Amino acid sequence: MRKFFSKIVKVHQSETYILAIESSCDETAAAILHNGNILANVVAGQSVHEKFGGVVPELASRAHQQNIVPVVDVALKEAKIAKEQLTAVAFTRGPGLLGSLLVGVTFAKSLALSLNIPLIEVNHMDAHVLAHFIDAPKPNFPFLCLTVSGGHTQILQVNSPLSMELLGQTQDDAAGEAFDKAAKILGLPYPGGPLIDKYAKEGNPLRFKFPEGKVGALDFSFSGFKTSVLYFVRDNVAANPNFIDENLADICASIQYAIVSVLIKKLSLAASQTGIKEIAIAGGVSANSGLRTALEKAGKQNGWNTYIPKFEYCTDNAAMIAMAGHFKYLEKQFVGQDTMPFSRLGQH
Ligand code: KG4
Ligand code: ZN
Repeated sequence: MRKFFSKIVKVHQSETYILAIESSCDETAAAILHNGNILANVVAGQSVHEKFGGVVPELASRAHQQNIVPVVDVALKEAKIAKEQLTAVAFTRGPGLLGSLLVGVTFAKSLALSLNIPLIEVNHMDAHVLAHFIDAPKPNFPFLCLTVSGGHTQILQVNSPLSMELLGQTQDDAAGEAFDKAAKILGLPYPGGPLIDKYAKEGNPLRFKFPEGKVGALDFSFSGFKTSVLYFVRDNVAANPNFIDENLADICASIQYAIVSVLIKKLSLAASQTGIKEIAIAGGVSANSGLRTALEKAGKQNGWNTYIPKFEYCTDNAAMIAMAGHFKYLEKQFVGQDTMPFSRLGQH
């Protein structure tokens, strides 16, 4: 079926305009890539989740439905092209929230069908890694990538754009989740990761100590960390009701230090085990200033070449989906109309 489909659709060889759609969680995004260069990168966030302290799947799905057509229209306008000029449609197939993914997948399938152009499915986590190929400097293969987002924490060995080996991953919560849950315990709104980053700038990272999860060498565990923050706050607030307000900067700096330290420690171990010195970070948490600084410092100490994405390519966006789609387009890795979203990592 897949092979057959790739033969009958219109495949342009010279000029390529790839439209990419991202709708895995709470950002509706569209991007246009022309011959490997980003022409438009549009992201619509969803503030509707703030008052619930986390993403509400049904509300996310509805917001995607409202946003997807305008977001794609703006992307086409910014790129100054008509939809008839598109040569392929790439979309996030998963992992993510099923109801959110369905909106993007259905839109992408319909558009590709109506324009009779190839359809390219993209793994969201691979796309975070491939965001490094949007702009220079680009990592050399093989490189290691610590991919840290709200749903995942992984160390990957990237051998080529389409070949990645999983070296380690979280056994429970993701690093972004650890930031967000710690922030929630402190009474900060969702998503709390960027706020912890902000308050941490004024604080002492060594004032409070939080334990490191005990798991396999290159794996991670943040569920014990979250519980320790919960008990720490509960006990201190019982003794002093103003404890959080009076110590917010030091608490945030110490939380950030604990998370970043374990991320860098495991990444260093992966580097020494593999002998690879090309080291990248990706995903929403790679926007964290503590992690960015710690990676640069570890890079200088260990003689690594380090790669840190621009802020706009750290958190969810469609430019990274377009870049991943570009690599698949070059290999003619297309899919048919029978493709369906998958919600969890490892499901295909
Ligand atoms: O990659 P992403 O946008 O979405 C997923 O694929 O999950 O990552 C979102 C996560 C959230 O947990 C958010 O709190 C975290 O990235 N994040 C940060 C920062 N910016 C985003 N965490 C810490 N510091 C930041 N500056
Ligand atoms: Zn993501």
